[in-house]
Amino acid sequence: MSLLFLSMFLTMYPLVVEIFVFGFFLESRDECGHNPVRYFAILSMQRSGSGWFETLLNSHNNVSSNGEIFSVLDRRKNISSIIQTLDRVYNLDWFTSASKNECSAAIGFKWMLNQGLMDNHKEIVDYFNRRGVSAIFLFRRNPLRRMVSVLANSYDRYAKLLNGTHKSHVHSPEEADALSKYKPVINSTSLIHDLQETENSAAKALEYFNTTRHIVVFYEDLITNQTKLKQVQEFLNIPVKDLSSRQVKIHRGDLSDHIKNWEDINKTLNGTEYEKYLRADY
Ligand SMILES: *[C@@H]1O[C@H](CO)[C@@H](O)[C@H](O)[C@H]1NC(C)=O
Ligand SMILES: *[C@@H]1O[C@H](CO)[C@@H](O)[C@H](O)[C@H]1NC(C)=O
Ligand SMILES: *[C@@H]1O[C@H](CO)[C@@H](O)[C@H](O)[C@H]1NC(C)=O
Ligand SMILES: *[C@@H]1O[C@H](CO)[C@@H](O)[C@H](O)[C@H]1NC(C)=O
Ligand SMILES: *[C@@H]1O[C@H](CO)[C@@H](O)[C@H](O)[C@H]1NC(C)=O
Ligand SMILES: *[C@@H]1O[C@H](CO)[C@@H](O)[C@H](O)[C@H]1NC(C)=O
Ligand SMILES: *[C@@H]1O[C@H](CO)[C@@H](O)[C@H](O)[C@H]1NC(C)=O
Ligand SMILES: *[C@@H]1O[C@H](CO)[C@@H](O)[C@H](O)[C@H]1NC(C)=O
Repeated sequence: MSLLFLSMFLTMYPLVVEIFVFGFFLESRDECGHNPVRYFAILSMQRSGSGWFETLLNSHNNVSSNGEIFSVLDRRKNISSIIQTLDRVYNLDWFTSASKNECSAAIGFKWMLNQGLMDNHKEIVDYFNRRGVSAIFLFRRNPLRRMVSVLANSYDRYAKLLNGTHKSHVHSPEEADALSKYKPVINSTSLIHDLQETENSAAKALEYFNTTRHIVVFYEDLITNQTKLKQVQEFLNIPVKDLSSRQVKIHRGDLSDHIKNWEDINKTLNGTEYEKYLRADY
């Protein structure tokens, strides 16, 4: 009955939804006590494909990835509230629509670098290493495309282009088209600096967590290379399966179609190390 309830929940809410029903599943964990549970955290940045990636992982019946739990400010106010929250997740006391059953072989959540992760990196690395939490870094190779997505998503927060509802992720090409009609203007004065900042954050995060067991995955590679997702499943030590997501990419095709001041941006990046981002797909 509980599984049926949860799969209904999953269908209705493709993104992870928190359900606070404590002790709901715990009693039967004993049955599967022999199944080792692996802990992971997806470390990423906003608009890097982590929502999509998480729905892929959650389509595996041995994975429960519990969403962006540190989007709630109270949980990341200080290191004590962070540790308390982590304990609840990894003590299997955290229930969401992604919770599969007491046999889940891999349990985790996604965590954006700017949600207290970088600021408290020392203590978090200690925690991860002490409890055996593995990190899955998910980054985008093309920070310019990510920037378009960040600007468009924050515009939609108040514009609510889909019939008055703000959506960060969509499930049909029609919805994707409606959202991508809006073309953001990119600040060309700060562009190079902003791209550098994004790359620096990723590099710094990798350096901070270099003693933690980890894998680095790029969104673009997940899309173009089937083997990548297999590699992630092997990293999590779960049976390799075909994973699927109902999410549809919002900004498809040439980047020149998605930036209002394209000529300006093209000129700004012409001849710089970032020039390649103007043309790259995805
Ligand atoms: C940490 O934050 C929590 C939640 O906001 C608060 O209740 C607690 O007093 C804070 N603890 C410290 C040591 O600041
Ligand atoms: C994966 O999930 C299935 C179905 O719940 C379960 O029977 C199996 O034991 C799980 N595998 C592992 C490695 O936990
Ligand atoms: C808005 O709602 C109408 C009626 O429900 C529907 O036909 C249409 O596809 C929706 N448009 C978008 C962009 O979601
Ligand atoms: C663009 O960036 C520059 C440099 O950071 C800043 O001074 C300016 O205010 C920004 N323009 C807009 C419209 O935000
Ligand atoms: C991790 O990064 C630090 C700081 O750059 C460096 O001193 C250390 O040698 C690195 N450790 C490993 C295991 O790579
Ligand atoms: C796909 O990913 C696998 C695993 O990382 C790698 O070994 C392989 O070279 C990649 N293939 C291509 C075409 O990039
Ligand atoms: C970008 O600018 C270059 C010249 O620097 C031009 O050849 C190219 O067609 C432009 N690209 C697009 C997609 O507008
Ligand atoms: C792009 O840069 C080259 C030199 O690197 C220059 O000759 C060309 O005029 C530039 N194009 C534009 C559109 O600025």
